[in-house]
Amino acid sequence: MTTGAPSRALGHTIHRLGEVASTQVEAARLAAEGATEGTVVMSTHQSAGRGRRGREWLDAPGESLLMSIVLRPRIPPNLAPQLSLVAAVAVVDALTSAGVTATIRWPNDVMVGKRKICGMLPEAVTTRDGALGHVILGIGVNVNQCGFPAPIRTLATSMRIETGREHAVDGMLDAVLAALEGWYPRFVEEGLGALLPAWLERAQGIGSRARAADGREGVAVGLAEDGALLLRMDSGESVRVVAGEVTTEVAHAAGH
Ligand code: BTN
Repeated sequence: MTTGAPSRALGHTIHRLGEVASTQVEAARLAAEGATEGTVVMSTHQSAGRGRRGREWLDAPGESLLMSIVLRPRIPPNLAPQLSLVAAVAVVDALTSAGVTATIRWPNDVMVGKRKICGMLPEAVTTRDGALGHVILGIGVNVNQCGFPAPIRTLATSMRIETGREHAVDGMLDAVLAALEGWYPRFVEEGLGALLPAWLERAQGIGSRARAADGREGVAVGLAEDGALLLRMDSGESVRVVAGEVTTEVAHAAGH
C-alpha cells in the first residue's frame, strides 16, 4: 500500500510493505528507478535487516518502526555519513514527544541509559562523476517489544519497556519525519556545525572517560564540525575519533 502526505517534504509518499529482506534494499530499488527525495519505505518485518558494520538488525514482526528514506541532498559524498547524526537528533526528539527520554551514544546510536532503542544506517550511492546520487537513510526503532532475543537481551530496550504502554508504530513514523523535517534542511543548508549544539545537548558520555575501538583512552570532550568525537588524552593531547565504537565511562586504571 502507498500512502503519504503530499504536502510533506519527507514522507510525501510512503510505501507500506509487509515482510521484506530489508527496507534499505526496497528503497534503493525505488531510488534507482527515480524515486524523489522524501520517499519512504516501511515494513512490518525484515528477514535480513541490516545494521552498521555488517551486523544484522533484528526485529519482531509488527513491533518495530523499520523505515528507509530516499534523500538526495546537494552535499559532497564524504558528508553523507553525517546524516546519521542528524537522524539521531531527530529520533531523540521524536522519542521525547512520546514520553521516552533518550540520549545519543556517538556517533548515532539512540540509547535509553545503556540500552539501545534505535539505530541508523545511511547508505550512499555516488554517480559516475563522483557526485552524491542519493542516500538511503535507514532508521530502526524498537517500539513495542516486551523483550529481546539472547544476543541483544541485555543491550536493547523499546518504547514499550520504557513507558509501560504500547505505542503506535505509525505515530512514531510521523514523529520521526516531523522532527527530521526540522533538522535535515538545516544540515543541508548550513552543515553539521549548525546542529552540533543540539547533538551535544542530546549526547551521553560527554565529559566522561571513553575508550576508542583502537584502545586510545581519554575524556570525551565534544564533537568536531565533521562529526568526529574529540577525546582529551591524559597527556593533554586532543585526538579525533572518526570511526569505530566508543565505550564511555571506562574505569580509570590506577596509576594513570
Ligand atoms: C545499527 O546497526 O545501529 C543500524 C540499524 C539500522 C536498522 C534499520 S531498520 C530499517 C532499515 N532497514 C535495514 O535493513 N536497516 C535499517
